[in-house]
Amino acid sequence: MRVASPHSLRASTTLVLLSLLLSANALFINLLPGFPQSLSASITSFENWSGEIRTNIYQTSPKNVDDLVSAVNWASSRGWRVRPRGFTHGWAPTSLDNSVNSLSRVLVVDMKGLNGITTNTTDKSITLAAGASVDSMHEALKAAGLALGAAPALGDITIGGALAIGAHGTGILANGETQGPGVSLGSLSNLVLELDAIVWTGTAYAVKTFARNDPEIGPFLCHLGRALITRVVLRVTDSYTMRCESITSVSMDQLSAAPGSGGTTVESILQSAGRMEIIHFPFTPNPWLKIWSLAPVKPATARAVSGPYNYPFSDSIDKLLSSLIGLGQTILPGGILVTAPAVFGIVTTGLATTKSADIWGYAGDLMRYVRASTLRVTANGIVIHCRRADVQRTIFEFNNKHKSLLTQYSGRLLFPINGPAEIRVTRVDQPDDAGVAGAVMPNLTPSRPFDGHPEWDTAVWFDVLTIPTTPFASSFMRDIEQWALANYASYAGVRSEWSKGWAYTTQGGWRDTNILKNVIPAAYGPAWANAVATFAKYDPKRLYASPLLDNMGL
Ligand SMILES: Cc1cc2nc3c(=O)[nH]c(=O)nc-3n(C[C@H](O)[C@H](O)[C@H](O)COP(=O)(O)OP(=O)(O)OC[C@H]3O[C@@H](n4cnc5c(N)ncnc54)[C@H](O)[C@@H]3O)c2cc1C
Ligand SMILES: *[C@@H]1O[C@H](CO)[C@@H](O)[C@H](O)[C@H]1NC(C)=O
Ligand SMILES: *[C@@H]1O[C@H](CO)[C@@H](O)[C@H](O)[C@H]1NC(C)=O
Repeated sequence: MRVASPHSLRASTTLVLLSLLLSANALFINLLPGFPQSLSASITSFENWSGEIRTNIYQTSPKNVDDLVSAVNWASSRGWRVRPRGFTHGWAPTSLDNSVNSLSRVLVVDMKGLNGITTNTTDKSITLAAGASVDSMHEALKAAGLALGAAPALGDITIGGALAIGAHGTGILANGETQGPGVSLGSLSNLVLELDAIVWTGTAYAVKTFARNDPEIGPFLCHLGRALITRVVLRVTDSYTMRCESITSVSMDQLSAAPGSGGTTVESILQSAGRMEIIHFPFTPNPWLKIWSLAPVKPATARAVSGPYNYPFSDSIDKLLSSLIGLGQTILPGGILVTAPAVFGIVTTGLATTKSADIWGYAGDLMRYVRASTLRVTANGIVIHCRRADVQRTIFEFNNKHKSLLTQYSGRLLFPINGPAEIRVTRVDQPDDAGVAGAVMPNLTPSRPFDGHPEWDTAVWFDVLTIPTTPFASSFMRDIEQWALANYASYAGVRSEWSKGWAYTTQGGWRDTNILKNVIPAAYGPAWANAVATFAKYDPKRLYASPLLDNMGL
């Protein structure tokens, strides 16, 4: 008899283990009795983008809406919850958090298999299955000679995930510019013409179509994951080209100078171009400023580009900042003092060597410049609604506070912030932009105008980024959020950017009970209660809720 070599023994042990694993897999599918035959659910790991949520969870990946409806009804009849997911390229635990696991009776639905797209050049619209990516949306629009007026900076997000949180880009009208048809300079939600949601109909969950002028559509346009959307139709505009200039020679103090100051300020840029973004690393004088302007013809000095993501050097920034984690925040707490100027160097050199400081091309390509493969930093999100004339004041005050907090912490040898502050400016939502008579206002977009304040027509978006494990980061985020709530109250309104961090305690985001239960609902007025009632009507079993949404009473 031939004796098996240790090698082949190991191989056959592996085979046995493998087949055990496979049958275990079959076993737990059977543990979900009655689960729709055409689908399967298996335990999969779930992570949020920054890697801070890591859990194991039952997941299914439907390829058509009928299967999804069956899965929802299966969950409904057994007291499970249903959590749609796109790319999980966000921060807020609107969908899941670490308290949820494979014993929690939560079914995660990966929406990315529902991804069909059609464009219509006659009525200038695009129809998307909710799991279609924003990248593929831009590609389809470009191919059809269509475009968006503004869009998020990254494209590997699903349209369903983007609308859930009220996604936005950057830009207002420059002086003398008139807004074209099909352009929304607020949220993407404000472009919705029609959507399908899977809702409770009295006997079962089924697909229901809501038109933009249906009085009940408001809460579904941006819902924080409190609904399940399967299809949307968006209004779009004709294809156009833009120029994007990157400037690194103007200081943050100059750009955010007191209102009325001369020279290049955010105010002067908004007047001339309307569209800008500031990325300002801590402890460096000058930010990376991007200015987009409408440019039907390529300016002589600009380089024509034919696709998105034209700043490849961003990856090197990530590597450098990641080295901070390697060095250990506690061993080298002031590492950012050395790293930040180096990061700025990468930007200036990168812009020069890749000839990206002045580029021109299809608007939808120039709007996309961030890849989710970049360093997994965490971010807070504060949105200030104000009069157009007060934009410079909000930025002046924010920059002063940001600087003084950094100084205050570094004075105690604490360096909680190692990523940039980012600033963008948009319009608030104007339902007329959708070009539908009687278009309903989104209830819950951060860019929904404040009740009683039609003069607050502009929204300023502030984010502060840092590596998640950095000591005292939550404390810093809490300080700046509490400051914003108090500081802006006299002349502006404060909201939170849903996909990011908010309601900070010194322990972390989404925890401060007063903000969750009082401050946020108050910032939405009666629209909040209306959304709560609408979701209760269409999802009485709270299938589409999560621990965070439960805490917020949504
Ligand atoms: C590097 C980076 C840059 C970013 N830049 C921008 C930006 O410029 N502008 C901006 O606005 N945002 C930006 N974001 C935030 C991003 O738009 C949101 O986090 C968005 O929700 C991510 O989409 P997703 O497909 O990954 O959704 P997921 O993270 O998978 O889901 C987000 C939420 O939507 C729900 N959801 C997903 N699909 C559906 C559906 N079909 N029906 C109902 N609910 C659903 C989920 O349950 C969850 O609650 C950025 C994020 C990152 C990581
Ligand atoms: C495009 O829109 C027009 C106008 O609403 C409509 O008549 C037409 O049927 C649509 N085309 C397609 C292919 O859906
Ligand atoms: C990911 O989720 C965890 C747990 O809710 C949260 O603490 C963390 O902040 C989230 N990620 C980021 C980058 O914010």
